[in-house]
This record gives sequence, structure tokens and C-alpha cells, in this order.
Amino acid sequence: MMPPDWRPPTLTTARLTLRAFEEHDADPLFEYARNPNVTRFTLWDHHRTPAETVAFVRDYARLRYREGMAEPYAITLTPNPHPIGACGCFWSSEPNQSMELGYWVAEPYWGRGIAGEASEALINHAFRDYEPERLQARVIAGNFASCRVLEKLSFRYEGTLRASLLRRSRFDDVMIYSLLRSEWAVATRKK
Ligand SMILES: CC(C)(COP(=O)(O)OP(=O)(O)OC[C@H]1O[C@@H](n2cnc3c(N)ncnc32)[C@H](O)[C@@H]1OP(=O)(O)O)[C@@H](O)C(=O)NCCC(=O)NCCS
Repeated sequence: MMPPDWRPPTLTTARLTLRAFEEHDADPLFEYARNPNVTRFTLWDHHRTPAETVAFVRDYARLRYREGMAEPYAITLTPNPHPIGACGCFWSSEPNQSMELGYWVAEPYWGRGIAGEASEALINHAFRDYEPERLQARVIAGNFASCRVLEKLSFRYEGTLRASLLRRSRFDDVMIYSLLRSEWAVATRKK
């Protein structure tokens, strides 16, 4: 357990600042999280009330920070402080040193490479500070933009778990991608 005021370190890229969520992020984030286009391929459903966004930025985030996780991060466009999405890395299986990556970007900001830029910083942080052997990502079949994001980050497609997710009253196929520590080290050296 981390102290109650522990927060994941702020990460910066050419255009973005990734920082911990705070309660005051709820109102601006709700304007994006209420959009069903954003949640078409996500495990979470679009937020119907501002209270759901408060629960995310306050209760869920604090729970994860208490565990010392780099999840969830607010994605902001420097120098604007408002969140335009979220991303994070957490243990999918700590005994096996496997982590999982997740991200979403607000619809007005799609198509600008933001998810990839944020994820790259997060991946570097995760491999350096948590030292997983494997970093995986799960994509609900049909989410081509997300597959592209992962391919551009050198993730490898491993296969599809057919009808493995019961979501919104239907069974979805789930595609699995991963990046191993050794592959990350090679990809980082090439830069
Ligand atoms: C998926 C998502 C994160 C992509 O973020 P982004 O910042 O827009 O990503 P990029 O700008 O790098 O674009 C991704 C790539 O997908 C491509 N793309 C976008 N929409 C596409 C579509 N409908 N079909 C095929 N490719 C598509 C883009 O052309 C781009 O590829 P390119 O760089 O080779 O041209 C964003 O759309 C999003 O937040 N979606 C909703 C939440 C979500 O699905 N999260 C992921 C869950 S696994």
C-alpha cells in the first residue's frame, strides 16, 4: 500500500502532459466521457451523469494510486490543463509480471496520433519502473484504430479469444496484443 497522497509521476512528451487525475477534472472529462462513440469498443459504458465521472476521477483513481499503479493518467495537451482522455498501465497478473495497457481519447482529438504518443511515454515508464516481462493490450474486434495504435507501437498481434467477452448483451471477440521487455529494449535502442 502507498501513502494516501501518492500519485504516479507526471510524464511529458512533445505535445502532451500525462498526470494523475484530481477531482476537479470531473466536469471537463464528463463532456467527453458521456459520448457513446468513445465507448463503442470499451469495457466501460459512456457516463450518463457527472457523478459517474466523479466516481472515476476520485474513487477509482485513488484506489489505483493507493496500489501504486500508473493508472489512470489524465492525458492533457500542453499547456492546457484539461483532460482530453485517459490512459494507464496496471498489473494484469503481478505473479507473472504481466501488465496491461489501456487508453481512450476524446472524439474531437481523434486522428492526431495522441493515443500513440501518450502510450509510448507510458510504456517506457512502465518497463523502467515496474519491470514487467510482458505488456499486453486487449482490443474488442472491429476497433481498427486501436489495432493501428498498437502496431505503430511495435506490439505483436497474438490471436483472438472468440466470443470471450459478454458485453451489452452480446458476445464479443477479443484480440490480444503484446510487447515483451526484450522487444521494447530493441525498439528503444533503434530510436
Ligand atoms: C482508438 C483510439 C484510442 C485511437 O486514438 P488516436 O489518437 O485517434 O489514434 P491515431 O491518431 O494514432 O490513429 C490511429 C490509426 O487508426 C487509423 N484509423 C482511425 N479510424 C480508423 C478506422 N475506422 N478504420 C481503420 N483505421 C482507422 C488512423 O488512420 C491511424 O492510422 P495511421 O496513423 O496509420 O493513419 C481513439 O480512437 C479512441 O479513443 N477511441 C475510443 C476508445 C477506444 O476504443 N479505446 C481503445 C480501447 S482498446
